[in-house]
Amino acid sequence: MQEFDDLRRTALERVTAAADLEELRELEREVLGKDGPVGRLLASIPALPPESRRETGQRANTLKRELEAAVLERRNAIEEAALEAERSGGSFDPTLPAPKPRRGSLHPITRVTRELEDLFTSMGWHVLDGPEVELERYNFDALNIPRDHPARDTMDTFRCDPEGKLVLRTHTSPGQVRAMERLRPPFRAIVPGKVFRNETVDASHEHTFHQMEGLCVDRDVSVGHLIGTMKTLLRGIFGKDIEVRLRPGYFPFVEPGFELDARCPFCTSGCSVCKQSTWIELLPCGMVHPNVLRAGGIDPEQWTGFAFGLGLSRLTMLRYGIDDVRLLLSGDLRFLEQFA
Ligand code: PHE
Repeated sequence: MQEFDDLRRTALERVTAAADLEELRELEREVLGKDGPVGRLLASIPALPPESRRETGQRANTLKRELEAAVLERRNAIEEAALEAERSGGSFDPTLPAPKPRRGSLHPITRVTRELEDLFTSMGWHVLDGPEVELERYNFDALNIPRDHPARDTMDTFRCDPEGKLVLRTHTSPGQVRAMERLRPPFRAIVPGKVFRNETVDASHEHTFHQMEGLCVDRDVSVGHLIGTMKTLLRGIFGKDIEVRLRPGYFPFVEPGFELDARCPFCTSGCSVCKQSTWIELLPCGMVHPNVLRAGGIDPEQWTGFAFGLGLSRLTMLRYGIDDVRLLLSGDLRFLEQFA
């Protein structure tokens, strides 16, 4: 017993005298290990008469807890002393600002979207949202694209059910019909959001990308209104007046339909962005087809409209000089932190 008490006392004394955390860690391993007093007590049990085994086991446990508590107490004391030393040293300056928390940043697509929303709301447009899982009826039929129409083949569609009654929207154009159902003419609305196509993914194709639909319905709307709005849009994005041109383009839900090109905002005589042509294909657009107005419950004899489908992903890439569309939704912080 005397021997045990000595072991216990020495162990406690050494723990209390530990000079730093490293020494304490080593001591902890030693006194709680199999050659320490606890370990020895436990090892002696098998040789003891049965009636004293229980008592010795309990003693070992009590001692173990006692030593653990001593280690913890010493650790706190060492840490506190270290902190105190740091705070009272000559180099301690309590007036220094605390380190700033790391701030996140807006995704470049969110930035461009918000800028465009500001621009359009300042001109009296609504900003609407639509479902990403869309009814076939809104994604196709109401847009003058019936089941057997070849235009369906140009949009590789993710179907959500075997009949294809429910699809991931392939464009934001279903937002046109939903806008007509919600708002009474005259009205103007944009619908930004994600769209999905079963594309083979490469530097310029993604299965998930962003578009922004625009729809204006009023009396006697003309192509002139469409061009005027698009020029305002470009001035808002690039901060200067930009020349545009229309080429014919086919989409079943507009008539006539156009591809709108903008003069390259980055050069005057050809560069890599405009592929040396000085023109950039910017967005498809056109005058709303009477069948679409009808599908939205609007009388085409009284009302007219124009619509456009802006490629938000593409525009964001142009704006920030991003050369691979896959970066946008990669979630790669090395890419995203550049927009902080
Ligand atoms: N929704 C069409 C597409 O994604 C683009 C478009 C929108 C064309 C509006 C004309 C008018 O290809």
